[in-house]
Amino acid sequence: MIEAKVENTIGRHKDWQPKILAFLCNWCSYAGADLAGVSRIQYPPNIRVVRIPCSGRVNPIFILKCLQNGFDGVLVSGCHPGDCHYISGNYVARRKFAVLKTLLEFMGLEPGRVQFSWVSAGEGEKFAQVVTKVTEDVKKLGPARKLVRNLEPTETKY
Ligand code: FES
Repeated sequence: MIEAKVENTIGRHKDWQPKILAFLCNWCSYAGADLAGVSRIQYPPNIRVVRIPCSGRVNPIFILKCLQNGFDGVLVSGCHPGDCHYISGNYVARRKFAVLKTLLEFMGLEPGRVQFSWVSAGEGEKFAQVVTKVTEDVKKLGPARKLVRNLEPTETKY
């Protein structure tokens, strides 16, 4: 009986694929993703892309909402420091995300679920590597359950 349960759990995890939301800056990382596509560089199909004007536009609430609404991981990618089209947007983002990372750890969320990267328009190969790494990291962590709303009701009796 116990063996069957273990097998089931393993089977479910083997087939499970993470859903990852990627916020990509229009000027660099989105163009990097485009270059990866045009160059036919393979990367995991687990990301859903949201094109943003600048990494500084990402409000930490967006990230929390993603995790609350069923995404297993979030990637934010912008221009390299010094290359932001709005001069300091990515510096602002870097500071915000450093604070957010600490908050997420405090909340008990695994550090690999939310990742940040800098990818330029000419780095299609790097974009594919980043997506591959994020997907593998989130896969190892399994489904995100910490912040999810509307989990199936448990057998708790009130
Ligand atoms: Fe790309 Fe600001 S424009 S990070």
